[in-house]
Amino acid sequence: MYSYDSMKLLYDPDNSKSYGDFDPSQPGYDVYAEAITQGCIGHRPGARVLDIGCGTGRWFHCLRDVKLLVGLDASLNMLNIAHRRLPELDALSHTECLLFEADIRKLMFMPDSFDFIYSTGVLGEYVPFDQVLLESILSWLSVRGSCFITIVDKDAFRNYEDRLLDSRKPSLKYSIRKLITPLAKVAVNINMVNFFPCTIAKQMHILYDFSQFYMTKKELTDVLNKVSMPFTYELISFQDRKHVHFGLKLFKSGK
Ligand SMILES: C[S@@+](CC[C@H](N)C(=O)[O-])C[C@H]1O[C@@H](n2cnc3c(N)ncnc32)[C@H](O)[C@@H]1O
Repeated sequence: MYSYDSMKLLYDPDNSKSYGDFDPSQPGYDVYAEAITQGCIGHRPGARVLDIGCGTGRWFHCLRDVKLLVGLDASLNMLNIAHRRLPELDALSHTECLLFEADIRKLMFMPDSFDFIYSTGVLGEYVPFDQVLLESILSWLSVRGSCFITIVDKDAFRNYEDRLLDSRKPSLKYSIRKLITPLAKVAVNINMVNFFPCTIAKQMHILYDFSQFYMTKKELTDVLNKVSMPFTYELISFQDRKHVHFGLKLFKSGK
């Protein structure tokens, strides 16, 4: 039961401020940086780019030859940081930049609005990645436009979570699986977000909200196979400092 309000609580002013940038020496940096730079280039007179869930704009520095950048996010706190970043970025000095608060599940753009669309750490995590969303994204792309999406690998996450909890106390694993998560589920369902006095309970509550997401390779390819619009794709697997991700590159083909 994804709730937009829980998500806003998660990215409160403190969490947004401490949302760190990636250091180029960290695992996964090159995968994000190369995919984002590559996606922009080759579109004359400059690419029209959409960043879905741009957060603090921590990948804006990888953009090149961009005529228009549209960044949307659910959190105003994250967007404020992204806004402050823009003047520091030489690569965007001649770029028209529009950053605004919006729920991607409720937004529509005209067909052929963008040459490159990317979304890192958002789809299949906070927002379900399904056929409807994928078809919308493909329709917003220009022919020969492309897209880069990262999605956490659910199987790899489960293995990691099991190892982590096993290596600590079995009783902790038991209480998280059997007690805290179900309690958080009840609280989410009766919309108690704002009544949690304790930070840990609040975090558990918010995290429950998103715990149904992440995708297995099969779930992801099932979505890709349902779409009848013409596109090709490349699916890679990579590890960053936190998770094993799928890196999905989509290329829209001609009619
Ligand atoms: C893990 S952060 C990733 C931010 C950024 N893409 C990055 O890689 O640094 C997830 C972001 O998704 C945004 N988000 C979550 N649900 C959203 C929605 N329904 N519409 C737009 N943005 C959303 C959150 O506000 C948050 O900034």
